[in-house]
Amino acid sequence: MQLIDGKITSQEVRKEIAKEVEKIVSAGGKIPHLAAILVGHDGGSESYVGGKMKACAEVGFKSSLIRFEETVTEEELLKKVKELNEDADIDGFIVQLPLPKHINEDKVNETIDPRKDVDGFHPVNVGRMAIGMPAFISATPQGILELLKRYKITTQGKQVVVIGRSNIVGRPMSILLSQKGNPGDATVTVCHSRTANLKEICLQADIIIAAIGSPGFVKGDMVKQGAVVIDVGTTRVEAPETKNGWRLKGDVLFDEVAPKCSFITPVPGGVGPMTITSLIINTLKSAKKEIYQ
Ligand code: GUN
Repeated sequence: MQLIDGKITSQEVRKEIAKEVEKIVSAGGKIPHLAAILVGHDGGSESYVGGKMKACAEVGFKSSLIRFEETVTEEELLKKVKELNEDADIDGFIVQLPLPKHINEDKVNETIDPRKDVDGFHPVNVGRMAIGMPAFISATPQGILELLKRYKITTQGKQVVVIGRSNIVGRPMSILLSQKGNPGDATVTVCHSRTANLKEICLQADIIIAAIGSPGFVKGDMVKQGAVVIDVGTTRVEAPETKNGWRLKGDVLFDEVAPKCSFITPVPGGVGPMTITSLIINTLKSAKKEIYQ
């Protein structure tokens, strides 16, 4: 069994990007610039956005954090989004979710210029991804593809079971892995809360991607010997022995499943560290006009 180390891979990718930024800048190019809009003071969102800004500094990007109070109106927020759409110095930006209840997230998302939508959440990017056009791909699926590539895990002809059908992980993951190419060319089954015979389906899988948000959902008796298991779960569970009083738990019962695997991602330290790095990859692609000319 080999651990897929997302922390080390993430550091490698960031080093490569930092070198590329140095080259761009020494050739007289513009420093890539990511902006983030953060509404309110939710602890989780603060920490995510903090991580994104820190990653920018690490690779030599410019970053801007735009804060609004919880009471901001939808109109004010949309005005800022439109301003960022027009700001030539900004290569990409994100609006950190969730937003307060009085703001329509879909409307905000659709107002973002798809050419600057480095989260890959805009319907234009989701649609382009689905039909195999160049697109910004959302962070978690892109991070998983990068891990598969770097660990030389081939997906061609493999049976992949994706557990979970969310718009930002399960569904895009299933589309990307069934498309032509590498990673891709897999036979993909999407399972969810209403799937019958889930255990039998999982036992057929060469690769399981667990993205259901239910701690310890995938047990040892659901996994074939030699399978690759990618754990996307990051549920906070109470842990009085830790400093924060919580720890992250994955969707996979690691101790039971790991001995059966050829490769497995741990939680924490697997898929998680790659997500912010994916955002950095997308911002560089935007700055280099790789997706949209
Ligand atoms: N909230 C949790 N994850 C994300 C993410 O990837 N992007 C944005 N914009 N908000 C989030």
